[in-house]
Amino acid sequence: PAAGANISELMHQVLGPREWEIMCRAGEIAARLGYRVFAAGGVVRDILLKAGNLDIDLVVEGDGIALAEALAGAYGAQVRAHRKFGTAEVLFPDGFKVDVATARVEFYEYPAALPRVESSCVRHDLYRRDFTINAMAVDLNGEHFGDLIDFFGGRQDLQQGLIRVLYNLSFIEDPIRLLRAVRFEQRYGFKIESQTLKLVQEAVRREVLARVSAERLWEELKHILMEERAGRMLERLHQLGIWPFAFHGVTYWEVQPVLHDLGESMQLLEEWGFPPVNEPWLCYFIAALHWTDPETARSLCERYHLNKRQTGKVLATLANWRPVLSRLCLRDGVRTSELARALLLLPPEAHPLILTLLDEEWLKERFRQLLVLLREKPTVDGTYIKNLGYRPGPIFRRALDAVWRARLDGLVKNTEEEKAFVQEFLRRHQGEDSHD
Ligand code: CTP
Repeated sequence: PAAGANISELMHQVLGPREWEIMCRAGEIAARLGYRVFAAGGVVRDILLKAGNLDIDLVVEGDGIALAEALAGAYGAQVRAHRKFGTAEVLFPDGFKVDVATARVEFYEYPAALPRVESSCVRHDLYRRDFTINAMAVDLNGEHFGDLIDFFGGRQDLQQGLIRVLYNLSFIEDPIRLLRAVRFEQRYGFKIESQTLKLVQEAVRREVLARVSAERLWEELKHILMEERAGRMLERLHQLGIWPFAFHGVTYWEVQPVLHDLGESMQLLEEWGFPPVNEPWLCYFIAALHWTDPETARSLCERYHLNKRQTGKVLATLANWRPVLSRLCLRDGVRTSELARALLLLPPEAHPLILTLLDEEWLKERFRQLLVLLREKPTVDGTYIKNLGYRPGPIFRRALDAVWRARLDGLVKNTEEEKAFVQEFLRRHQGEDSHD
């Protein structure tokens, strides 16, 4: 039933040179070892969609770990093997990664007993997967290189934009797939196919997600929060009744408008030239929780094993976003240094939230200017004060803080004025340290 299409030209066009090379090399190594190897899953989907995907998953009919070792040898990469599962990761020095799995069962049980033993092997592997669009493979062997293996109509579902499971018990066996269905649906602007949608609804009704470990749930949830269209995905989780399993105790409608616009705010911040934060998922997590009470937020952070720093950022936002927002919205009588001081109570991951909550143009502009000012640190520092002959003490921090504020409020405009300001400050406050 294989589709018969050969997509090697498309592969050449879509894959980066390295990915292409690895796929060719994997085929050569498999031939040498007497195995067969396939690229399977997301990478095939993304080749057909002409979308870049760096994750290569290989399925081997033969010893997957041996193939991984040979592949690693060819590139000076490391292998992390999981012998129990017959899987391995090939880890390149620069962080690039290839996953290798062994398609075992039939291969070992019926060697050469079946006419198409190899295909039935990879078929078995593909059949255990989540959706038709993720259950295709590409043959990497010799003259078959580039043959598309599509037993379940994945290519057609890709063309029609449908998320479809392979069997009725899919969500019961692996409830995480409920979140994955939403993620792929919204990422590509697809629809969950109608029979599959019924299965989603039934699985939700049976509360299958309640028995999934917090670790697995978080892993998939974090994937969602890192997606460009995370806002829409969260909305869809709500529509389908999945939200309460992910954000227990958090009322969706209270955060709905913010989640809807958060992506836009993140983009705007980037357009304004602010560096992206290291953990963009935390921006969504913070926005999703900002309306809840601290106990609920803290218990969710614990449940998902956020570390101390991350939890601190969530709780700092909860405690401070309202006063920060109301200060920012004051039309006059508020000093820039005061606004800046308030803003510093929030982690950068809360900036998209604040920007989203500011609903007037002049407020957004004020926020932008403030962020620009915050980036420009005064040029005078502790060393400068020391060189003036002062002994290090609390007065240093007070002086530097004072010049920082003066700079924000426009009282000093350049290094010369900063220096004069600091000298004047120190003269006036000399000898006060003992009272600190
Ligand atoms: N898979 C599955 N069920 C899951 C998780 C994964 O069937 N619960 C299968 C799918 O076939 C998927 C493959 O494993 O294509 C790889 O999973 P993963 O790397 O999580 O997803 P990708 O499809 O590569 O998607 P992404 O682009 O988000 O990495």
